[in-house]
Amino acid sequence: MSSVTLEHVHKRFGTAKGVEDVHIHIESGEFFTFLGPSGCGKTTTLRMIAGFYYPSAGQIRFGNQEVTSVPPHKRNTGMVFQNYALFPHMTVFENIAFGLQVRSVSKAETKERVERMMKLVRLEGYGDRRIDQLSGGQQQRVALARALVIEPQILLLDEPLSNLDAKLREETRFEIKRLQLELGITTIYVTHDQAEAMSMSDRIMVMQSGEVQQIGTPHEIYHRPVNRFVASFIGETNLWDATVVGIEGDEVQVRISSGQVLRGHKQNASPQAKLAAGEKVTLSIRPESVQESPAAEGVNTVTGSVVLAEFTGACVNYVTQVGDEQLRSMSINLGRQVKQRGDTIGLHIPKESIYFAG
Ligand SMILES: Nc1ncnc2c1ncn2[C@@H]1O[C@H](COP(=O)(O)OP(=O)(O)OP(=O)(O)O)[C@@H](O)[C@H]1O
Ligand SMILES: [Mg+2]
Repeated sequence: MSSVTLEHVHKRFGTAKGVEDVHIHIESGEFFTFLGPSGCGKTTTLRMIAGFYYPSAGQIRFGNQEVTSVPPHKRNTGMVFQNYALFPHMTVFENIAFGLQVRSVSKAETKERVERMMKLVRLEGYGDRRIDQLSGGQQQRVALARALVIEPQILLLDEPLSNLDAKLREETRFEIKRLQLELGITTIYVTHDQAEAMSMSDRIMVMQSGEVQQIGTPHEIYHRPVNRFVASFIGETNLWDATVVGIEGDEVQVRISSGQVLRGHKQNASPQAKLAAGEKVTLSIRPESVQESPAAEGVNTVTGSVVLAEFTGACVNYVTQVGDEQLRSMSINLGRQVKQRGDTIGLHIPKESIYFAG
């Protein structure tokens, strides 16, 4: 297995920006995810690692070996493409065997390795089927087997679950993670689905418009987003404008639009947040941390009028008007009576769950 390093990598397409200054070190055996909205540069970055694009500037290394302009078939990476790119007129066996034939592996060894792969992805007995006779999920597993059969040092997966239904997506997510742990293979995964990224990855790189926004563990990215974009892209959050009114030791006091003062912890701040009296800050408050409070008063308890009440069975979600802002909250259903639109509600925002996003 191998580590992957991108050193100040840029890619331009004519005058159009593809990606700009990607600088990452992915550890050997790590499950690393590129996450971001459509067009942010995920596929472009992955293709440079596979060798299908060469960077306009910067360097790529696998371990200590520089591979920046080495062609794809000499890189020992296995790739599952965004649209699978299987050969529709060929059988499952022929598709999986393709990479071995290109590498002139003997017939006997090819047969042995392809069969081992079909077993691994649970497609035993499907060798003679044509690709167009398979379901989407089966095709996805053929693509995975085709990438793995060459025993790549690095596995590159570009939105491999995008064509699957919800149930199959979950199963295959588990399958990919199982294979990755079993083989200990360095895996780079591309998705625009934050839940997928959070549940599978050791670390995530969040991208926007060709630029890296943040690199961190799922926990860091969720709880310590470096800016508004990351905070809102990773799960739901309330972003409130506030003004710092005072700092006492570890405690930061901020005034929100209703005029009320909330208290937070100084260490819950992104590097961009200016925590000094009079400064404007953005608060990020996750809906699941806001809880209905039977008492309408107390530290960090706000009151407002319910704008939207949603009962999903397991959860009760509210949108509440608090001053000029709306507060989304999400609580486990504890059997309390659900408030209705127009009702007054008290909500508690714990000190430790206020994050100063900048
Ligand atoms: N071959 C190309 N020629 C010109 N521009 C390109 C080319 N490939 C990608 N781009 C541009 O580079 C940017 C990044 O594209 P990329 O395919 O990497 O996005 P992505 O994050 O994978 O998006 P998606 O989630 O839609 O797959 C886009 O603006 C895209 O239009
Ligand atoms: Mg893409």
